[in-house]
Amino acid sequence: MKILLTGGAGYIGSHVLLSILEQGHKVVVIDDLSTGNKNLIPEKIELINCNINNEEKIGKVLQQQKFDILLHFAGFIKVEESVQNPKKYFINNTENAIKLFETCYKHDLKNIIFSSTAAAYGNPINNASRKENSE
Ligand SMILES: NC(=O)c1ccc[n+]([C@@H]2O[C@H](COP(=O)([O-])OP(=O)(O)OC[C@H]3O[C@@H](n4cnc5c(N)ncnc54)[C@H](O)[C@@H]3O)[C@@H](O)[C@H]2O)c1
Repeated sequence: MKILLTGGAGYIGSHVLLSILEQGHKVVVIDDLSTGNKNLIPEKIELINCNINNEEKIGKVLQQQKFDILLHFAGFIKVEESVQNPKKYFINNTENAIKLFETCYKHDLKNIIFSSTAAAYGNPINNASRKENSE
């Protein structure tokens, strides 16, 4: 497959990138390096260094190359900061993501996997913490 990956310089995205490469797929990364690290992207991989809301730049990429799927991992993730500054998070995680999806849709890229949030599941009780709680 040919995959368009956002947030490939981040924690989750860079691991997904390695997995994609191990499985022999082709990939192009979009990341503005706002929290990511360029060194996590192998040199041979094309990096589009821009915000996901950049319709002009991403539109050009989608005109020139055909992708099977978008994997979207570009977002802000700090829970505490999101409570202090919800607007910053709404703009990036909601508005910018919608803009990206609209750009993809316009160029007929309609298969999307969206890693929505790390904060959906609360604090799971695993065997170690269960043991601690019972002591
Ligand atoms: N870390 C986790 O345990 C976890 C678990 C489940 C889901 N997620 C979700 O995965 C996504 C990524 O999380 P992470 O932990 O990898 O964060 P991260 O900060 O390490 O990575 C985010 C990447 O996206 C880039 N980015 C952010 N906004 C951008 C924008 N507007 N345009 C272009 N690039 C942008 C950053 O530069 C960075 O490389 C988030 O949506 C998060 O909620 C994370």
